[in-house]
Amino acid sequence: MLEQFKTDVDTGLSSSPKFLSSRFFYDAKGDELFQQIMAMPEYYLTNKEFEIFSQQSDKLIEAFDLKKDEYFELIELGAGDGTKTVELLKALQRQNYEYDYFPIDISQNSLDGLEKMLSEKTPALKVVKKQGDYFGVLSSFKESKKKKVLLFMGSNIGNMNDDRAREFIYKLGENLNPGDKLLIGIDLIKAIEIVGPAYNDPAGITSAFNLNLLNRINRELGGDFDLEKWAHAPEYDEETGYAKSFIKSLVNQTVFISSIGKSFDFKKEEKIHTEISRKYNDTVMKNIISGTDFKLHDKLTDADGWFADYVLIRG
Ligand code: AVJ
Repeated sequence: MLEQFKTDVDTGLSSSPKFLSSRFFYDAKGDELFQQIMAMPEYYLTNKEFEIFSQQSDKLIEAFDLKKDEYFELIELGAGDGTKTVELLKALQRQNYEYDYFPIDISQNSLDGLEKMLSEKTPALKVVKKQGDYFGVLSSFKESKKKKVLLFMGSNIGNMNDDRAREFIYKLGENLNPGDKLLIGIDLIKAIEIVGPAYNDPAGITSAFNLNLLNRINRELGGDFDLEKWAHAPEYDEETGYAKSFIKSLVNQTVFISSIGKSFDFKKEEKIHTEISRKYNDTVMKNIISGTDFKLHDKLTDADGWFADYVLIRG
């Protein structure tokens, strides 16, 4: 992991324009800051998806085409703390569906927390924790011919550009059988007045989250980034639906990273691209799933129409 970080930082900061991958946001400090982001009033995404899961759980279940007497496997990619999912699980339990829940996460810590929470809220449910990367774990399900419902929530797919998202969904399809369902939670394209503050909150939490990447380079790779000389610089284009985060250099400067053994020059105003938070509409979704084995099956949105859970069916 450290080797990968080192190579990726070297590659990204040697490129023009410069970039760093958002997957490196999530060290212990980054996890904590992301929890704070989800609790911010401006970050509507979590609340909107929670609304869908809590108020429309029956509709979700209908969209999965489940039969009461047919066992299925409910698999969640990046399950996190399960605050939203538990609403669906409670509804499934209430209606006596026959299934097991397989949360997949990189973090053993969050899987353990999730299991504990579910042992209180849905005590009869069998929870099978799967620690690891998505495709590694998914391939272990391939042998089972049981019906599957796969959840990929939280607008996490928004961190990918469209080509990567298509490839990702295609690969998910390789691990499923015809008729299986894939739920994708995604933020919808909307006005900058709403999206802007979600990625640039006045309390500066998102700024700290973005700039933590430089701290992480300092800590883990021996960098000498002076955080005073950098600023969080988000952008959003409401036509295309691309929200992007950058870290902007406030002065001309040179940064040395000792474990790479190299210096990197930055011009005043020069930006390092750190994240894509892609917003979708039906056209974007249809374009991405063309060329995969999935078709659009259903779509649920919150009352304001800000967030969507798309349900796709594997053909
Ligand atoms: C975890 C990828 C859904 O892009 O909205 C939040 C991460 N970045 N604020 C998002 C994030 C800045 C978040 N996702």
